[in-house]
Amino acid sequence: MDTISGYLGTHHRRCDQLCIDAEKSVAAELWDRADAVFQEFCAALEQHFAMEEEVLFVAFEKAIHGTDGPTAIMRVEHNKINSVVFMLRDALARRAKNAFLGHADTLNIMIAQHNQVEDDIFYPMLDRMFGAQKHELIEAMRKIAESPAADPAT
Ligand SMILES: [Fe+2]
Ligand SMILES: [Fe+2]
Repeated sequence: MDTISGYLGTHHRRCDQLCIDAEKSVAAELWDRADAVFQEFCAALEQHFAMEEEVLFVAFEKAIHGTDGPTAIMRVEHNKINSVVFMLRDALARRAKNAFLGHADTLNIMIAQHNQVEDDIFYPMLDRMFGAQKHELIEAMRKIAESPAADPAT
């Protein structure tokens, strides 16, 4: 995967698929499977945000000499997404099927809007901006993706 768009776009789709699997498991009341898949989703999302916030956004902010551009908005959106994930985790722990599915609808809309801006505008812009240096950024992100995920319950 030799572009930021390709690498992170693929990761977006992986997160989406895990979220769909978790919803399907909850809808079918397959709770053990839902626990396992939701945990995998949380870990993937946490790694995704870490790749963006600790590598990509930092490189962008350094290049534009500022932190109050689009990355500030995206960091706020990550926090909002995380607060909905927290509600999903709580609903799952309570085996509250309808609450989980309701929060999942909200989450899907928030993530779709956020990812659309990244996929269509932000990542392609970074691919152009960083030229050959993008390979170093992808390598740094890959290291985060391959590191063991923190326990999402902590
Ligand atoms: Fe993001
Ligand atoms: Fe993203």
